Amino acid sequence: MTNTPIEAINVEPRLLCGPGPANISPDVLSALSKPLLGHLDPDMYEILTDLAAMTARVYQRDEGDGMTLPISATGTSGMEAGIAALVEPGSTVIIGVNGYFGRRLVEIASRYHANVVEVEAEWGQAVTNEALLEALAQNPDARLMAVVYAETSSGVRHDLPELGEAMRDNDTFLMADCVTALGGIEVALTDWGVDYAYSCSQKCLAMSPGMSPISISQRALEFMRSQPKPSTFYLDPQLLEAYWLARPAAYHHTLPSPLVFGLHEALREVLNEGLEARWARHAEAGGYLQAAMAERNMELLADPAHQLPQLTAVLVPEGIDGPGVQKQMLREHGIEIGGGLPGAPAMWRFGLMGYNANVATADKVLAAFDAVMADAPTLAAA
Ligand SMILES: Cc1ncc(COP(=O)(O)O)c(C=O)c1O
Repeated sequence: MTNTPIEAINVEPRLLCGPGPANISPDVLSALSKPLLGHLDPDMYEILTDLAAMTARVYQRDEGDGMTLPISATGTSGMEAGIAALVEPGSTVIIGVNGYFGRRLVEIASRYHANVVEVEAEWGQAVTNEALLEALAQNPDARLMAVVYAETSSGVRHDLPELGEAMRDNDTFLMADCVTALGGIEVALTDWGVDYAYSCSQKCLAMSPGMSPISISQRALEFMRSQPKPSTFYLDPQLLEAYWLARPAAYHHTLPSPLVFGLHEALREVLNEGLEARWARHAEAGGYLQAAMAERNMELLADPAHQLPQLTAVLVPEGIDGPGVQKQMLREHGIEIGGGLPGAPAMWRFGLMGYNANVATADKVLAAFDAVMADAPTLAAA
């Protein structure tokens, strides 16, 4: 064995304008390097209580309605925690599937041995609430209805408020994937009657990956309390509650305090900016990029009536090497954009999320895109 010193890694900065993660603000970045606190430090408890309350405000979950807190893991953990706590083997779960993340919900629910009823729509289309409600009429004992509010794989928004309204007096719980939605478009869980929502930290909240804010309605929380323990320990919302919110706190896991500080700063920025101002900023930036793409005769995948502002899926024109364009954007311009996920048509996915949701960033992306497309790699050449 030689003792040759190992070099530190060097990471070049990128403009992250794909489906996420997105860039974070300088203040969030410095919050991530605050001094560590132990997870049982009394100062930490105050931060946790504060952070849970801020998360509820961003979700627009009313005070006294259920429980809201972040899980120390990425968005998928929130998805799995909800299924694990609300579903038991044989429970019927109706899932809207119009892209990759609806399909992931099906995968997780199946692993928990749910009886999954899929209600599908084509790529770029929203799953209709009529079809979901029809499935509910045929399965009136369904435990859960789950939809992806903002489908990152296609840029499609679900008509969630309307679904919540239609299910208001129903015993079936309503779950919404808000991973790409939270902080970018309106989310109002109590008003809309959403029983369980989950999100991530790395998209429109403009933090690093690593936290998954979840929010549970009062009635869903009471249901969970009446049930046997879920088979997951790490993702059991009641154990998380006993650490995050109950005092004295019951140790559950060693909290990654840098992520707690980062999320606290990110949510502080969201709330200080104002929810409506933030949604308006995302709408302006996304609308600008989408209009610019249309001017360039690029075809957008999403049905315009359901187009998300923060995620724009652009179909790769015939003959163009889509991944080759992505590679040039990255290597020559330092800009990350996304491609299509498995099963999707050939596309690029442009994200203007959180700190990046502004016209100046859209202009940088468009300038780089124009430069690459002026001599675009073609499939024949690839
Ligand atoms: C809509 C949606 N749901 C779930 C996830 C999974 O989140 P994560 O990758 O943070 O685990 C993503 C990730 O991009 C997503 O876009």
